[in-house]
Amino acid sequence: MVFVVAVAQQKGGAGKSTVAANLAVAMAATGLRVALLDTDPQQSLARWWEERANQPRALPLSFETPAGWRIPAAIDRLKRGHDVIILDTAPHAETEAKIAIRAADLVLLPMQPSPADLWASDATLKLAAAEGRRAVVLLNRVPASGRLPQQIEALLAERHIPVLAQRLGNRTAFASAFMLGLAVCEAAPRNQATTELTALAEAVRALQKG
Ligand SMILES: Nc1ncnc2c1ncn2[C@@H]1O[C@H](COP(=O)(O)OP(=O)(O)OP(=O)(O)O)[C@@H](O)[C@H]1O
Ligand SMILES: [Mg+2]
Repeated sequence: MVFVVAVAQQKGGAGKSTVAANLAVAMAATGLRVALLDTDPQQSLARWWEERANQPRALPLSFETPAGWRIPAAIDRLKRGHDVIILDTAPHAETEAKIAIRAADLVLLPMQPSPADLWASDATLKLAAAEGRRAVVLLNRVPASGRLPQQIEALLAERHIPVLAQRLGNRTAFASAFMLGLAVCEAAPRNQATTELTALAEAVRALQKG
């Protein structure tokens, strides 16, 4: 079975594109055949993909940028020949994001541990619920210290919103790798960011099975 994961969160700058690209590569690193779809009309991954073409370290990955109404057809086509399809989505819970969520088996919702990000997640969570899609929160850019992540997790728990135990810290390695068209596991294999990303990829894979 092909696993379709939409990385969605209406809040801009939550880390959707970073997570989608890095997760796609981390899953490809485990031998899975992965397609990454940039469904954001801003095409934020297009430049990353362009840089990637010049990188001998880049692991094999399929990449497409389907317009909103073409997303379901692109997914249907890519299901043949891939194990995992990861969708980067637009901020705002608008047409493209809706179509992507509808097409997904899992909605992965990156959230920085801040009240603004928490409150902004409501629209995406409602959309996932309305479409009957499973949604899990990924705490992203988690600071090394402070109680805020725990407080946010407690608020999510109160509302019965599932949160992955695996988190991504606030790490410059993500932007450094991105600039080269790479994921952290390719650009900085020994960085803590890679350890966290690998754990995230395993957790997402496990969600397909359980
Ligand atoms: N775990 C992280 N550690 C450090 N920086 C991060 C992390 N995740 C994302 N960033 C940075 O945060 C910024 C926004 O990330 P990104 O572009 O992935 O967000 P987005 O949700 O796709 O934004 P948009 O809504 O505009 O599409 C980028 O500069 C990126 O490098
Ligand atoms: Mg983006």
